[in-house]
Amino acid sequence: MGEHAVEVEGLVRKFGDLVAVDGVTFEVRRGEVFGFLGPNGAGKTTTINMLCTLLTPTAGRATVDGFDVVRQKREVRQRIGLVFQDPSLDDRLTANENLDFHAVVYAVPQAVREKRKRELLEMVDLLDRADDLVITFSGGMKRRLEIARGLLHHPRVLFLDEPTIGLDPQTRKYIWDYVADLKKREDITIFLTTHYMEEAEHCDRIAIIDHGRIIALDTSENLKNMVGGDIIRIKTDDDARAEELLREKYRVNILEDKDCLCFEVERGEEFIPRLFQDFDVSIQSINLHRPTLDDVFLKLTGREIRDEEADGFMADMRRMVTRVRPPFAR
Ligand SMILES: Nc1ncnc2c1ncn2[C@@H]1O[C@H](COP(=O)(O)OP(=O)(O)OP(=O)(O)O)[C@@H](O)[C@H]1O
Ligand SMILES: [Mg+2]
Repeated sequence: MGEHAVEVEGLVRKFGDLVAVDGVTFEVRRGEVFGFLGPNGAGKTTTINMLCTLLTPTAGRATVDGFDVVRQKREVRQRIGLVFQDPSLDDRLTANENLDFHAVVYAVPQAVREKRKRELLEMVDLLDRADDLVITFSGGMKRRLEIARGLLHHPRVLFLDEPTIGLDPQTRKYIWDYVADLKKREDITIFLTTHYMEEAEHCDRIAIIDHGRIIALDTSENLKNMVGGDIIRIKTDDDARAEELLREKYRVNILEDKDCLCFEVERGEEFIPRLFQDFDVSIQSINLHRPTLDDVFLKLTGREIRDEEADGFMADMRRMVTRVRPPFAR
């Protein structure tokens, strides 16, 4: 083991009877942005914590930059940067003081410390706020400072646990810009977790994790090709009847029937006019789209990844989209 930035083989973590991580095997290539995508409780943080030596695996092995996460904890710790899912800055200190504290813990040499701090604060657009108390920062500013802090000691692998959770869409975009910039500027591998499907698209490769297991691992493009056709969602006056018709007459396989009927067809743009021509049930709304990672998850698990509590914004957007009625609706 050790050729790749991260190598994981049959990694397991149990908490009592609960199997949080259930035998995952994967590798992260050097220089790549690798994403762990999965719903709440899938085992993302538990995996990160094992890779960062904060949790001991119940079984299996893992190396980071060639060092074993159990037997060579100290070497691993020197080579990683970590941005936790929950904020971990000291609010009562300034941005600079937070960085200084970290620099001391990681023994960043005094000679390079100031230069490195400036460089990173500049990168995350916080240079002019360096001497302000963190308590006065917005959520996005705090996140950016945490990313800068995680990079201070020139880690080989940066772990970001839900780097954009709870941030507004614009700030989330900024964070992704920094990640892209970082990949260019520093010789670094990035391992991150997210449950935002659209954001996983920023990763070179994505592992989809559910109930502690990796259910798919590939580039976003290849994952979406797995789904195949276009996804259509319709709402009708009588979904039960519509479902029956779709199955029998149009031979489609209903993927989901909770809030609306969701199914997959080849060439959706041709299917919809056919549907409107002679469908006995009145259609209230219809929505067509090319496969997304959401659909990949749905196809693999039969469930949607999004939970409304954690992802209210996208859930709202989705409701708005399905509410829009096409002009030809009866
Ligand atoms: N210290 C712990 N003690 C007991 N159970 C735990 C502990 N940490 C995590 N778990 C359980 O392990 C499972 C995986 O949790 P984990 O935090 O890894 O999920 P996650 O994918 O990071 O979820 P989220 O998206 O909510 O952050 C969950 O069922 C969780 O309740
Ligand atoms: Mg987590």
